[in-house]
Amino acid sequence: MLTQTDLLTKKGVYIQQMFGSIAKVYDLLNTILSFNFDKSWRKFAVKMSNVTPDAKVLDVCTGTGDLAIAYSKVLSGTGRVIGSDFCHEMVRLADLKLKKRNLSDKIKVIDADTLHLPFQDNYFQVSAVAFGIRNVSDLRAGITEMMRITTPGGRVVILEFSQPTNPLFKAIYYFYFKKILPFIGKLISRSKYHAYSYLPSSVLNFPDRYRLRAQMESCGLKEVKIYSRTLGIITVHVGTKPGN
Ligand SMILES: C[S@@+](CC[C@H](N)C(=O)[O-])C[C@H]1O[C@@H](n2cnc3c(N)ncnc32)[C@H](O)[C@@H]1O
Repeated sequence: MLTQTDLLTKKGVYIQQMFGSIAKVYDLLNTILSFNFDKSWRKFAVKMSNVTPDAKVLDVCTGTGDLAIAYSKVLSGTGRVIGSDFCHEMVRLADLKLKKRNLSDKIKVIDADTLHLPFQDNYFQVSAVAFGIRNVSDLRAGITEMMRITTPGGRVVILEFSQPTNPLFKAIYYFYFKKILPFIGKLISRSKYHAYSYLPSSVLNFPDRYRLRAQMESCGLKEVKIYSRTLGIITVHVGTKPGN
């Protein structure tokens, strides 16, 4: 049985097992636990990416494919999205969702580790991730790998949970996030891996919006902009790969 301490090491095999155990209820719990805000957060990340309609986009840590789907809505013509994830159960569910929604010609999903992406250098105009990079064992290596496959002048986009700034709202939100969310998550998912206790712990142990921006800049990204939403619950980071 995996403990919180095991999960917080972010060892790939632990993270795969944990997400595999909640894959079937992942979308339902996202909707319930975020009060349906999650869709608007991904849409906001897409908007901030300033993507051209013919772009090639990579969504790493795609899970059940929702960010990839959000990108596909602003693409046309030759624009395409690839979603990648190392949890096969998630990829399988993403693939089923794409088939059901007739999106398989615009979006492909593949099994791949974000730390070793099976793509050539400088290929995608946008490489993006929603609520995923926090789970990657080596943050710096993950950002660097996303940068590698992005074209010069292209963008690396990170949507992640962040810390609310208003003290009163922060107190109320943290009570929900640390106490109520894990309880509901466990009740519905029945996961033995404590996935919904790991969620707040991993967010609280993750760099805040300014440290994440500094990390992206130290990886070589330029003009890293940060855009917060919903009183600071989430932040979108957009950095440009130099060289164009
Ligand atoms: C919280 S889910 C986010 C899913 C989706 N992006 C979304 O917006 O809902 C995190 C996903 O990241 C994946 N993941 C974590 N570490 C990974 C890695 N090193 N390589 C590929 N996928 C990874 C997990 O398997 C999981 O599906």
